[in-house]
Amino acid sequence: MSAPLINGKQVSEEIRGALKGQVELLVKQGLTPGLAVVLVGEDPASQVYVRNKEKACHDLGYYSEVHRLPDSTSQEDLLSLVDKLNHQDNIHGILVQLPLPKHIEEKAVIDAIAVEKDVDGFHPVNVGNLVIGDDSLLPCTPAGVIELIKRTGIEIAGKHAVVIGRSNIVGKPVSLLLQREHATVTMCHSRTANMKELTKQADILVVAIGRANFVDASYVKPGAVIIDVGMNRLDNGKLAGDVDFESVKEVSGPITPVPGGVGPMTITMLMQNTLIAAKRLSG
Ligand code: GUN
Repeated sequence: MSAPLINGKQVSEEIRGALKGQVELLVKQGLTPGLAVVLVGEDPASQVYVRNKEKACHDLGYYSEVHRLPDSTSQEDLLSLVDKLNHQDNIHGILVQLPLPKHIEEKAVIDAIAVEKDVDGFHPVNVGNLVIGDDSLLPCTPAGVIELIKRTGIEIAGKHAVVIGRSNIVGKPVSLLLQREHATVTMCHSRTANMKELTKQADILVVAIGRANFVDASYVKPGAVIIDVGMNRLDNGKLAGDVDFESVKEVSGPITPVPGGVGPMTITMLMQNTLIAAKRLSG
């Protein structure tokens, strides 16, 4: 039997519909949420992500600025742009698209973004608040994963969640958010011994390892919820997740497709963070 799909596109549209209503009210009160996106260089995947963010802003009635800078941009020039955006009153969220060219130190740039405008949730203060459990701007993909699970009606509390991948962008923060939702969390990564023994215990399996079709049915307990965060471009140009969907769907419970699963949620959470930041900055 084939598992039910977790429809990230649909859930995402529901949330965006609600956000649009809130934005219309705010705009009438004189506050238009503003997002600045900075893209350095010409990485093709980053260009697509940035265009999608720009479109989401347009669709929801946000003010948006996209700064496309050449690959040769110096760290100093990038830091001055971030500083300018930090002080710009019509900008409430700043996102510097990663990865950056090698000559620029990512940490210096992330540290320079004003904490209250850090809609990626990557600044060390926001990361610290996430660890402590304080109210903060949450990183978008992990927040999107949790929202998607909850809105699909899946209970997280008391479940054993296994996360594959330990990146700062997804693996680490999603494990913290799952704990916050009262799951028992196990983390696996590229050096984990006997990974299948662990993943086969998962009630909820979140896969963010960045390797196409890495998880097949042999990793999965029958009926487990599968969240695939992977976005891998194959040689034939097609997009593949980290989960071998065709194999896994025959044994799993509800499962996210790629595309149409976690992807749309990430941008929706970015829009939500920008709205939160706009309200906080003006209130
Ligand atoms: N590159 C890949 N994912 C992300 C993200 O969530 N934020 C930023 N800024 N860059 C990324």
